[in-house]
Amino acid sequence: MSEIASVYPVMIAGTGSYLPEKVMTNADLEKFVDTTDEWITSRTGIKERRIAADDEFTSHLATKAAKKALEQAGMEASDLQLIIVATISPDTITPATACYVQHNLGATEAIAYDISAACSGFLYAMKIAKRMISDGAYENALIIGAEKLSSFVNWEDRNTCVLFGDGAGAAVLRRSEEGEGRILATEMGTDGAQTGILNIPGGGSACPTTSANVNDKLASLQMSGREVFKLAVNAMKKASEKVIERAGLAPDDIKLVIPHQANLRIIDAIADRLAVPNEKVFVNLDKYGNTSAAAVAIALDEAHRTGRFERGDKIVLVVFGAGLTWAASAIEW
Ligand code: COA
Repeated sequence: MSEIASVYPVMIAGTGSYLPEKVMTNADLEKFVDTTDEWITSRTGIKERRIAADDEFTSHLATKAAKKALEQAGMEASDLQLIIVATISPDTITPATACYVQHNLGATEAIAYDISAACSGFLYAMKIAKRMISDGAYENALIIGAEKLSSFVNWEDRNTCVLFGDGAGAAVLRRSEEGEGRILATEMGTDGAQTGILNIPGGGSACPTTSANVNDKLASLQMSGREVFKLAVNAMKKASEKVIERAGLAPDDIKLVIPHQANLRIIDAIADRLAVPNEKVFVNLDKYGNTSAAAVAIALDEAHRTGRFERGDKIVLVVFGAGLTWAASAIEW
């Protein structure tokens, strides 16, 4: 069979996640920014988040999550052929964080690169890796969502700093054999007209790093929360519906929906619009806040390891983020 004509089914063989040890609670935030636990909890559902140590970088978080995913998949790093890291908080602008991870793991045979799709990055990576495996180019891939957002948050801006946290989640994808699970359908979308509502304006070629723009906090996350909220709900609803339909599923067939962990009110709105009861929707943002590309990957790993779904169950992952970007995947585990 020619490579172009090949269509191999692809499965998730292992998941892993890592959260830094340091916990920052809402009460901790109250000490240095004008906010309250009551405001953060009622508007977002977040109670605490993790903050990486000064000498702990995105690649370190990613490597720790990856090792767990490899272990669960029963695979050696030396067997990996492809590593994709989704992040908006890379160790360095270049080289890619994935290169540090490749070295840390000793995955010498893998090609490695980053993608930047903000909170949608892990599911963008899933679609790219799935396609690379299904067309025969690679037999396996490690995809990682990893963020040290604490380095890119303006800790004086209560509109944003209460929302985000650090962490990493990973999954090993490989060709699926007869009787094993598979990724049933994937969907991605982008609306570049919305770049202004959620961004880090400084530090790139448009606004290079200078002491003036560092002082103006331009190298930090900025957001119009209300606009993001409205667009997020619509985008996630449509993306979920597409993969549910393409996978031939009805809402009742779905064991668990794992949405991006940004805001409990957004998650509730999605559950409502998809007609999925709340108990079938996974939530862990109370513990970690929004970890951008890592969030859905960490949630997938936690849901998997706590038995929220089993072999043969159908699950739906759905995300949105800066760009705007959005994505969804329907998976038979
Ligand atoms: N503590 C206390 N008050 C705060 C606050 C905080 N941490 N952050 C904002 N406020 C204030 C605002 O200043 C505003 O005060 P004002 O009315 O005097 O101007 C008030 O609370 C209401 O702000 P508003 O923006 O209307 O609140 P909201 O109900 O829209 O909730 C978000 C704000 C950010 C929680 C909400 O819009 C949201 O979650 N949006 C989506 C963001 C998101 O998911 N981003 C990540 C995308 S991947």
